[in-house]
Amino acid sequence: MKLLVVGGGGREHAIIRKLNESPKVDKIYCAPGNGGISRDAECVNIGACDIDNMVAFAKDNAIDFCVVAPDDPLAAGMVDAMNGADIPCFGPNKAAARIEGSKVFAKNLMKKYGIPTAAYEVFDDPHAAMDYVKAQNTYPTVIKADGLALGKGVILAQTEEEAMAAIHSIMEDKQFGDSGNQIVIEEFLTGPEVSVLSFCDGKTIVPMVSSMDHKRALDGDQGLNTGGMGTVAPNPHYTDAVAKECMETIFLPTVRAMEAEGCPFAGCLYFGLMLTPKGPKVIEYNCRFGDPETQVVLPLLKSDLLDIFVAVSQGKLDSVPVEFAKDEYAACVVEASGGYPQNYEKGKVIQGLDENGQCDGVTVYHAGTKYENGQFLTSGGRVLGLTATAKTLPQALEKAYQAAETVTFEKMHLRKDIGQRALQAL
Ligand code: AMP
Ligand code: GLY
Repeated sequence: MKLLVVGGGGREHAIIRKLNESPKVDKIYCAPGNGGISRDAECVNIGACDIDNMVAFAKDNAIDFCVVAPDDPLAAGMVDAMNGADIPCFGPNKAAARIEGSKVFAKNLMKKYGIPTAAYEVFDDPHAAMDYVKAQNTYPTVIKADGLALGKGVILAQTEEEAMAAIHSIMEDKQFGDSGNQIVIEEFLTGPEVSVLSFCDGKTIVPMVSSMDHKRALDGDQGLNTGGMGTVAPNPHYTDAVAKECMETIFLPTVRAMEAEGCPFAGCLYFGLMLTPKGPKVIEYNCRFGDPETQVVLPLLKSDLLDIFVAVSQGKLDSVPVEFAKDEYAACVVEASGGYPQNYEKGKVIQGLDENGQCDGVTVYHAGTKYENGQFLTSGGRVLGLTATAKTLPQALEKAYQAAETVTFEKMHLRKDIGQRALQAL
């Protein structure tokens, strides 16, 4: 089969490397891809959100199957457009992608179908929102822009002042454009966080191995929120008992709710969960694989990923095996450009990689690299994800951090405490 993977980060690299293990794959294109991905797939210079050119490329090149990985093209309807051109895809259509694209949609869905989540109110008027926060007078309070906001649309306000500033910048200054036409104000929850990605074909849902993200830029969960500075899998907080409860109270009810609303979800449904003292609750849904969760989840997948993707697109997920390695751990340490998630320099030469962009002992997933004259250069905020697997979590972490000593570039930044909270919970 000839495949097209849309996107160009570490997540897409992890998807491509797993797809390349399938005997049914003849060729993979990736648009736009990146320097590291170019060693494993043919990169095509089309932007991930350029629906017209993406569909035209897929038709002209007789693509048999397309995987749309990032949230923006999913929310914009790339899967609908591909299907309209008779190209089967892995990924939700536009209607189903609202589960991530609109927080108001997601919260109202959970309320209507009794799925546990933080209590909330929706506002389209900034003054009403400000009055509500003042009347509640409970801090921290959580303020979320309705639409996509590059992962920056959630503000945990510690004081009235911070809350007012957040409402002002989202709704009046339009910091995130139309994504801030409405906001959700919700209750602050506490407890360990767990990411669960799942395969879902509209009716059947099969959760993948659980994982733990590290969102803040600095050690000890300090500093700004980022796309994710590292992950481990499985997440030790996610016991069999918790998994059973989540299946009954969250996963199946969500799949049935989307079906009942006339927008069955087919693709990867990501549950961002918090294990609160009152049980597991949904913090957020994503309509796609997480990044860098995918970089620890897919290395533990034993089954054929292409078979699963095709089965999902045909509504036959119950007919294929989905098996993960047992008694194995994965750890991913992200190397970022100094200054990320704010300003950072690009174009730094990366040391310690072979000609395929790899390094012994780990799998190197490229998030933001360029390949020029036989060298890999940095070209983004998150640059590389170094993933190691092992029989124990400490071993996996040791292998990943060992590789990080040789794979380096000027002003490289990484967190030194990836997996430490997970180790404490083991
Ligand atoms: P998001 O951008 O939706 O992934 O949210 C970013 C982070 O904000 C989450 O990973 C949580 O740590 C935190 N968060 C979001 N909603 C809540 C909430 N209701 N209570 C506490 N923390 C939250
Ligand atoms: N790592 C979090 C996300 O992909 O949204």
